[in-house]
Amino acid sequence: MAEISRVGVVGLGTMGAGIAQVCVQAGLEVVGREVEPELGEAARSRIDHYLSRGVEKGRLTSEEKDAALSRLTTVTDLSELASCQLVIEAVFEDLEVKRETFAALDGIVAPEAILATNTSALSVTKIAEAAQHPERVVGLHFFNPAPVLPLVEVIRTTQTSDEVFDAAYAFAQRIGKEPVACNDTPGFIVNRILIPLLNDCVRVLDEARVTPDDVDRAMRFGANWPIGPCALIDLIGVDVHVHASEALHAALGEERMAPPERLLEMERAGHLGRKSGQGFYTY
Ligand SMILES: NC(=O)c1ccc[n+]([C@@H]2O[C@H](COP(=O)([O-])OP(=O)(O)OC[C@H]3O[C@@H](n4cnc5c(N)ncnc54)[C@H](O)[C@@H]3O)[C@@H](O)[C@H]2O)c1
Repeated sequence: MAEISRVGVVGLGTMGAGIAQVCVQAGLEVVGREVEPELGEAARSRIDHYLSRGVEKGRLTSEEKDAALSRLTTVTDLSELASCQLVIEAVFEDLEVKRETFAALDGIVAPEAILATNTSALSVTKIAEAAQHPERVVGLHFFNPAPVLPLVEVIRTTQTSDEVFDAAYAFAQRIGKEPVACNDTPGFIVNRILIPLLNDCVRVLDEARVTPDDVDRAMRFGANWPIGPCALIDLIGVDVHVHASEALHAALGEERMAPPERLLEMERAGHLGRKSGQGFYTY
């Protein structure tokens, strides 16, 4: 496999910008693709902001920050990812949008390049089937915020070649992450466990007639969780969690996986958590 020195990131939203930041901080060149130039610039500003905070806290020097930012190029045309040895897709969680992206990318990058998706809840196999060469497709599932959380689930389909899987796993290590090998099963490892568990916590609010603060403090001080489940859903985003719950429920059919009514009501009211200023808590 060619040495990975240049990484393409498609979609510089929450996850894509975080992944781009991790890669430039690890010394790699990144070509980030957004649909509009302003969105690319906005992502660069967010990365600049986080790196500047790192400088203030003494985690890196301002020279290291400048060098990292200079390794990021933003483009709007997918064909500008042609020279990347690895492309990580982090667009909107929609199967058709992802399949179109993979079909296009497969015709753009070199034959030995790796194509990865950051999907949380879609089938990597179904995304890979849109590529002409599904053997070069893997999942690289980062967690939010990508620069902070160490885990990357490296997902192989039955078609992924060993060489591609090993290179993707080594890449995750190279950028300082903790990779875990997964198969293409619904929710992979973390979401398969966490989604029904968080839904149980929300159902307990009504069943036990307790407050979000009660549940959060109970799990923090009784189960030693670093963050309470309601605060965690506020951080993930109620809409993101509901969408992932629906996908897992559709795939596996367990009642606990379906989003609780209370979360659907919050979503309808626009109470999406931290990003909207209101969720279980006010921000
Ligand atoms: N947010 C999370 O906690 C989280 C965690 C892990 C994985 N993911 C996954 O990462 C991916 C991106 O999620 P996000 O939270 O960063 O979303 P986001 O809404 O912040 O960003 C979505 C990106 O998709 C692009 N986009 C939207 N419509 C498009 C289209 N029609 N064609 C091409 N690009 C389009 C946007 O420009 C943007 O860059 C999803 O697959 C999601 O499931 C999200």
